[in-house]
Formats: sequence, structure tokens, C-alpha cells
Amino acid sequence: MLKVTQQPDVISFGGGLPAPELFPRDEIATCTRDVMDRYGAAALQYSVTEGIPEMRSWLAQRLAPAFEREVPADDVLIVNGSQQGLDLIGKILIDPGDHVVLENPSYLGAIHAFDAYEARYLTVETDEDGMVPESLERVLDAAEPFPKFLYLIPNFQNPTGRTLAGDRRERIVRICEHFDLPIVEDDPYGELRFEGEPLPPLFSFATSGTVLYLGTGSKIVAPGLRVAWLVVPDEDVREKLILAKQGADLHSGSLAQYIFHAYVSSDAFESHVRDIVSTYRRRRDVMYAALQEFAPPSVSFNHPQGGMFLWARAAGIDTSELLAACARHRVVFVPGESFYPARDVRDGMRLNFSNSSEEKLRIGIERIMSTIRSVTK
Ligand SMILES: Cc1ncc(COP(=O)(O)O)c(C=O)c1O
Repeated sequence: MLKVTQQPDVISFGGGLPAPELFPRDEIATCTRDVMDRYGAAALQYSVTEGIPEMRSWLAQRLAPAFEREVPADDVLIVNGSQQGLDLIGKILIDPGDHVVLENPSYLGAIHAFDAYEARYLTVETDEDGMVPESLERVLDAAEPFPKFLYLIPNFQNPTGRTLAGDRRERIVRICEHFDLPIVEDDPYGELRFEGEPLPPLFSFATSGTVLYLGTGSKIVAPGLRVAWLVVPDEDVREKLILAKQGADLHSGSLAQYIFHAYVSSDAFESHVRDIVSTYRRRRDVMYAALQEFAPPSVSFNHPQGGMFLWARAAGIDTSELLAACARHRVVFVPGESFYPARDVRDGMRLNFSNSSEEKLRIGIERIMSTIRSVTK
């Protein structure tokens, strides 16, 4: 399959990649020069595990409006991609055989990270409004052994593009508070909102429970810098995470952090995020319009309000098999099966729209839909 996607005439909706043509290449080059002039050797030296103070203070300020409270810079830990955050959380919280609660379906990278610590999964029903609170309650009531934490992606979820409804957010925080279950809130896509008002992060609700918040620069600046953050108010948990990170890599790259900080502190950054949002919104519109035009009645699909993915279901079709047929027609996507820990739902398709031109989005959807028509004839 990899061989297929690397061929130039193949349209890929498979990866979860940002649009490379939007990367701020010139600005990052200028920032790199400025960082060397301003910080010199310090930017090339070993640094502290928690992250450079400039980044932690910037995040404390940037996150405060969404969190509706000041977050001390000390609560912020810089990690090497939020993927490392997931790994460290797995390392400190999961013992072999422990349960982790997930949305069904959920992010494959998180499942992989937790698999490494031999987690088992309890899955909670989801609908177009995200995780269903009543299902969470039922799962927790019946859980044996009781899970270590709940992992969820409330905004423009990977793989479904769905957003957890506003009224469900506080309910989920209260349910977890009642059951004393820590929440891991992974929010890589929250800033990529195309329409509607931003919804409060779970982290923003006052609770006696534990909420860990994960964010990343991968979708708003560039994933190659590997600059991401964990916000951890609980001191014990934070200390364990810092020790785990020390053991893993001592610290995230100092140079990348200084460059990232210089760029996000510049005037160019906010308008850059707006450019990403408007480009992805157009791409979502084109993919959605193509689905409306070409999808047979057996295919249902959603209309995500942000992010990078649209989710489709092809009733009665095993999309892993469909993928092989689509690859022959020079278009690929990710079959839904792997996002379900029990691998028991086989008709889903994750369709990435951020990484293809508008022209390719339309042609690719037409190819997938005509392949579906030909295999169901
Ligand atoms: C839900 C989710 N979490 C985490 C990540 C990892 O992001 P990064 O390690 O680049 O910050 C991704 C990447 O696609 C993602 O979709």
C-alpha cells in the first residue's frame, strides 16, 4: 500500500498530514536566524526537561482564555509531539492488563501508545455529538477492573471529525469526578474551527477530579518541530511525567522550542492560523460537495465543523477490501476498522481533506464512489 501511495498519480486521503504548502517556511527561516543571534549557544545547549521557560509562559497565557482561568507556567510541560505525551501518560499510569476508556472509534496512535504498556480497552458509544454520557456511566458502573483513565478527543476527533457537544462536556467531567476517573483530553485540532463558537475544554470546568490537557503545534505551525504540550495541575502526576520524560529524552529539542516560540510570538502567527482554517474549510466544502454529488445512497457521511477529517460509512461494505480496489483506481483512504479496539466495525472510512488540492479532492471522491458502485453491483 505504501508503494501505491508514493506513486505521483495516486490521490491519498489516507495520511493525517497538514498542507505542506502552508508551512511558514520563510518565517521559520527568519526566526531561526533571529534565535541564533539572540540566544546563540543557549539554543544549542542541553536544557531543562519541562521545556524552555519562554514556551511555558507563552502557553500559560495563550490557554488562559479557553480555560477561563490562569494556568501557572509551572503546570505546562513541553513534550516531543503530543504523541510523546500519550506515551508518557501510558508509562506512568498503565500497568499490564489495566483498562483505559476510549471513544469508539478512537485515535489509532493513542491505541498504539497504550498498547505498548499492555492496556486493555473499555469503549464508550459515540454519535454525531461525540461520546454518549449515558454509555460512559454504564461502562464505568460495570468496569472490572476499574480503568486508569478516560482518553478522549473532544474537538474534530480523529478519525470521525466529530465534536463533543457543549452540554455533554460538563456531564462527562461530572461523571468522571463521581467515579474518580482521571481524564486525558487530547486537543490537537481545537484551533482548526471552520464555523460555530468554540466550546469549553473539559479542562476548563472546576472539578475535584484530574484532567490532563494535551495540545500541539503540529497542526498550527508544523509537525516537524515536534513541539507540543501537556498541562498537568496535579503536582504528583506532573513529577512522574517529568521523571518519565527525563528517562526518555532528557528534554525536547531546545532549538525547535526557541524557533517555535519566536514564530508564535511574531505578528505572522495569528493570520497564519486563519489561513490554515480558511484553506481547510474550502477543502472540507469541496470534499463534502463531491460526496453529495457522487455518493450512492448506501454511503453516509458527516460534515465536520473543523479539523482535518471527514468520516463516511459504506453500508454493507468491508472498507479494508474496498481499499484494495480503490488503490487499483489510484485513490486511498484509511479503513475504519483499525480505529475500533475490538475491530468489529468494518464499514467506516477516514477521509483526510487537509492534504489534497481541491481538484484532487473532487476526483478522489469520484473514484472512491464509482469503485463502491462497481463492487456493489
Ligand atoms: C488525536 C491526535 N493526538 C495526537 C496526535 C499526535 O500529534 P503530534 O505528536 O504531532 O503532536 C495526532 C496526530 O495526528 C492526533 O490526531
